[in-house]
Amino acid sequence: MDRAKDQFVVNPGVPLRGTTAVPGDKSLSHRAVLLGALAAGVSQVRGWLAAGDTEASLRAIQALGVPVERHSRNELTIHGGKLSPAAGALDLLNAGTGIRLLAGIMAGQPFGSVLDGSEQLRRRPMKRILAPLQMMGADIHSVENHAPLMIRPAELHGIQYDMPVASAQVKSAVLLAGLFAKGATTITQPGPARDHTERMLSAMGADLSVEGDTVVLNPGNVLQPVDMIVPGDISSAAFLIAAALLVPGSDITLTGINLNETRTGLLDVLLAMNADITITETGLEAGEPVGTIRVRHSVLKGTDVGGDKVVRMIDEFPILMVAALGAEGTTIVREAEELRVKETDRLAVMTAELRKLGAEITETKDGFVITGPQDLMAGVVDGHDDHRIAMSMAVAGLVAEGRTTVLDARCAGDSFPGFAETLVSLGADVRVSEM
Ligand code: S3P
Repeated sequence: MDRAKDQFVVNPGVPLRGTTAVPGDKSLSHRAVLLGALAAGVSQVRGWLAAGDTEASLRAIQALGVPVERHSRNELTIHGGKLSPAAGALDLLNAGTGIRLLAGIMAGQPFGSVLDGSEQLRRRPMKRILAPLQMMGADIHSVENHAPLMIRPAELHGIQYDMPVASAQVKSAVLLAGLFAKGATTITQPGPARDHTERMLSAMGADLSVEGDTVVLNPGNVLQPVDMIVPGDISSAAFLIAAALLVPGSDITLTGINLNETRTGLLDVLLAMNADITITETGLEAGEPVGTIRVRHSVLKGTDVGGDKVVRMIDEFPILMVAALGAEGTTIVREAEELRVKETDRLAVMTAELRKLGAEITETKDGFVITGPQDLMAGVVDGHDDHRIAMSMAVAGLVAEGRTTVLDARCAGDSFPGFAETLVSLGADVRVSEM
């Protein structure tokens, strides 16, 4: 498959209207298969996200000998409880969550493994998980702190770890290793990183407690299987929300969205920007609050973002840049340097791509400054094999004058398969074509 091949061709001006769901939450879908593999019994997962990143995690557990029945693209039965050595290296493709969480699990197994991924994944920092896992006694090595990760069996012991960055992937890797360690594992986080692992482990019967920023896991409890419907991904909904806010005449309703408050920083920021957004909680799915989000076109105002909000919307800054260009006044983002170590350096890449459409942006070391509203001119931009860049640039195309082409856009399917089709179902003029 040549990932660079697809492109989005986007024409502006058509209001978005109607009701839609979005694909299942990526973070939960990774965890459903990785934790389902560890559970003693049969887990049922519906609404699972069948996307580039999560399929890589699924193939990894299958390569580790876990039987999975695939009833449809989004419905799985996982026969968990026993992992066996894989025949070769496990390939997590572009999935940072997949490789980091799996590293925590594999560090505690009585057999070795090699975890690897795409060229893009090999560029991402792994020291953040290697350091705490090695403190736990893990025998895990890398090539200068980058994948591939070579893991050999070792006796793990619990640690008390003060995380230097607010990262759910790091927290999860340490907690998952903690399941196989002797003694308690205690983690203190500097900010409210997404807590899906804690919720899922608790629901599965793990002895885990959370007090403020500290999580304590005592190993020993047998993990019970899960039976879950994965709610829609707020990080995918974010692109539709921004599009509806920016395109005059829009009025959309998104249903079944995960409203876990460690994920909803963007909604808080947009509401502070004067966005017309109504959020209605409708219940709980997979231990996560779920609800409906109605969004109407709004005249946005600039805002400041920093502190705890940053981690609660860490994946949403590319699309916030597009929204900020449409807002009156100045938007200043600080303390978001983590964006530099995502699939791409999202501060640099978004700044460069939006400038191709005529945007004026000041990139800072840990964020950006944008004063709007700015009129964008259509152009040819690039998705950089980074799903959130490709989708953000498609939304920019919905408000730029003329026809915008987003090259290298197939990567949108790493988290949001059917992104363009969903926009079309809401009325937008977007086409996927082969280059
Ligand atoms: C994720 C955590 C975040 C996020 C990523 C998914 C997860 O990464 O950016 O898209 O599922 O745990 P960090 O933990 O590195 O902040």
